[in-house]
Amino acid sequence: MKIGILFSGRGSNMSALIEACSDANFPAEIVVAISNNPDAGGLAIAQKAGIPTHVINHREYENRETFDAALDAALKTAGVELVCNAGFMRILTNGFVESWKNRQLNIHPSLLPAFKGLHVHERVLTAGARITGATVHFVRAEMDEGPIVAQAAVAVQPDDTVETLSARVLAAEHKLYPMALRLVAEGKARVQGERVALQAAGHTETGPLFVPPLA
Ligand code: GAR
Repeated sequence: MKIGILFSGRGSNMSALIEACSDANFPAEIVVAISNNPDAGGLAIAQKAGIPTHVINHREYENRETFDAALDAALKTAGVELVCNAGFMRILTNGFVESWKNRQLNIHPSLLPAFKGLHVHERVLTAGARITGATVHFVRAEMDEGPIVAQAAVAVQPDDTVETLSARVLAAEHKLYPMALRLVAEGKARVQGERVALQAAGHTETGPLFVPPLA
């Protein structure tokens, strides 16, 4: 499956996907990586891996529609079949989301539907939650919403700070995103209704993949 990555920042999740796709047995290849941010650290990562890379700077577009049209054109030109948002911090228009419906994944650093949005780890600590984690889901028009493909749980430790907790959740993200992408690329995770059905060993089991707390 041909993958297009959208990112805005340091690109560590993209890096995990690049690493996974570098295995000849992995069922996906990255054909383009697009950043809305010309200063994104991830640009160097994608270029070093030899992936065709574009900057589509949202500041140079009049509105969300024209920006999204440019994204859409670049993805289509590259022959993308599935879009993977990897730390892509722009809200997409309904038109873009509809046209890539069930063909676009996102990763978010919480157990959705809890803690959507920004400053997740700070809010998890403030709320006193004992368990947090990461979620890979198909993208819908509402931010951080959509059918869940896979979740990883991460225990919150009593002495955690935003830095220590975010580092452990990020490590879980790097394992989870390639696992979820593999399921989707192999056609084993499909949207049925607004839930994901996982196909395992000849039978269909409804519900996302769960990765228990990492040591
Ligand atoms: C990751 O933690 C990702 O889950 C989060 O941004 C970070 C990007 O880091 N995404 C969101 O919050 C989306 N709502 P990275 O650039 O190192 O992959």
